[in-house]
Amino acid sequence: MKLEIVILAAGKGTRMRSDLPKVLHPVGGRPMLSWVIETAQSLKPAAVHVVTGHRAELVEKLVADLPEKLKAGVSCVRQARQQGTADAVAAALPEVSDNADVLVLYGDTPLVRSELLKTFIKETADAPLGVLSAHTDTPKGYGRIIRDARGGFDCIIEEKDASDAQRLVKEINTGIIRARAAVLKEWLPKIGNHNAQGEYYLTDLAGLLRRSGLQVAICKAPEFETLAGVNSKFQLARAERCCQRTQSRRLMDEYGVTLADPERLEVRGSLECGRDCFIDINCVFEGQVKLGDRVTICAGCVIKDCTIGDDSVISPYTVMEGSELHKENTIGPFARLRAGNVLEDRVHIGDFVEVKKSRIGAGTKAGHLSYLGDAKFGKDINVGAGTITCNYDGANKHRTVVGDDVFIGSDTQLVAPVEVPAHVTIGAGTTYTHRIEAKEGDLVITRPREAVVPGFARPQKQAK
Ligand code: UD1
Ligand code: CA
Repeated sequence: MKLEIVILAAGKGTRMRSDLPKVLHPVGGRPMLSWVIETAQSLKPAAVHVVTGHRAELVEKLVADLPEKLKAGVSCVRQARQQGTADAVAAALPEVSDNADVLVLYGDTPLVRSELLKTFIKETADAPLGVLSAHTDTPKGYGRIIRDARGGFDCIIEEKDASDAQRLVKEINTGIIRARAAVLKEWLPKIGNHNAQGEYYLTDLAGLLRRSGLQVAICKAPEFETLAGVNSKFQLARAERCCQRTQSRRLMDEYGVTLADPERLEVRGSLECGRDCFIDINCVFEGQVKLGDRVTICAGCVIKDCTIGDDSVISPYTVMEGSELHKENTIGPFARLRAGNVLEDRVHIGDFVEVKKSRIGAGTKAGHLSYLGDAKFGKDINVGAGTITCNYDGANKHRTVVGDDVFIGSDTQLVAPVEVPAHVTIGAGTTYTHRIEAKEGDLVITRPREAVVPGFARPQKQAK
């Protein structure tokens, strides 16, 4: 039987107290819904139907903007009014083929594992309806799985409709079900809304089938954490921790990364590592980051969309984005690489140095307190402390080009557009403009001549 997946994402998420639709809140740096779609796709379904409603355009835009490989076979269907989970599934049914097996996932349950879903589908395949349950010591807010005296399934009761005794039950409904399309088409219209919330509950389907003598298969998950629904900011924070723990675990298991503390690492995107990397505490990785072999990232670094070559060391509190670093770079502490840099082998960028849209040649060093922007620096250049590329004239940005083996003395201003030939030596305090016509090997200094006034008498305050 072919598999079709329905993802419920129409709810407002009142308990989030936010203008953003609930399923668009991020976990691990991306919207909850995109995790669910990715997991859905891993099951290779014939189709994925995302049910939208509250601020539907925003949710539909997320789907439209997904990468091609995640988007294939995904379409959105609107639920006119948010009248409950049964109504939401019903909204998708016209799009679902009659002979499909349907898996219902929730946009607010982002961390469900693909392997668990495969087991669930397999174990409940023979029943018209399968329900995925889990055990938790904190079942508040969840629908409870009510079993009969012999331990068989009876029905699902929502928290708000449950008796005190039923509320003690710790087996909860994860919300995830698997049902034959024909079963949904026949039975969903029979669900009423006579309950505490006046909604059409998908959970009532299980009780209805049961009372009509049809089999409902319950599959109890071995875990709860990845199945926890996110209804509030508190639960969102919980989900974030769970997600981060999973990523830390993956970094250690898959790449053998040494993490100073797996609980103090944040990956908000994807992080790939070579062998023998070390990551100290409190680092944040965003977007797509790739580390080569033996890369060390010291404490407190924030790294976004960067590639860092073998044997590089990023010292504490470095902030970098959109940069490509070749081998054996040493960056920081307290360095800032803005987008658009390429640093060749053995480049050193030290403390309080900012680099933007620049190519820095192999072996070049800028140790302290500099700004290098819109520049091309050759190889083996010494950039003295306080060197500034004056790239902006108030209206336009201009380029600075510095040849190989130039020595730049401290406190030099390179007024762009400007080009410094190779092997030039620039004396400290020089203002280097395009009017300077130096040739390879020259010394350039623009300091005023020193003057010594012997026995200089300082001005004195005049008596009033
Ligand atoms: C639901 C279940 C509960 C279960 C819990 C698991 C029902 C009635 N209750 O409760 O048994 O323990 O999930 O997390 O099913 N949605 C729509 N349209 C609607 C209403 C909701 O698309 O009209 C979507 C929401 O966007 C959300 C999902 O369905 O992604 C679940 O809705 P929510 O209101 O969060 O249900 P819970 O109260 O958590
Ligand atoms: Ca929920």
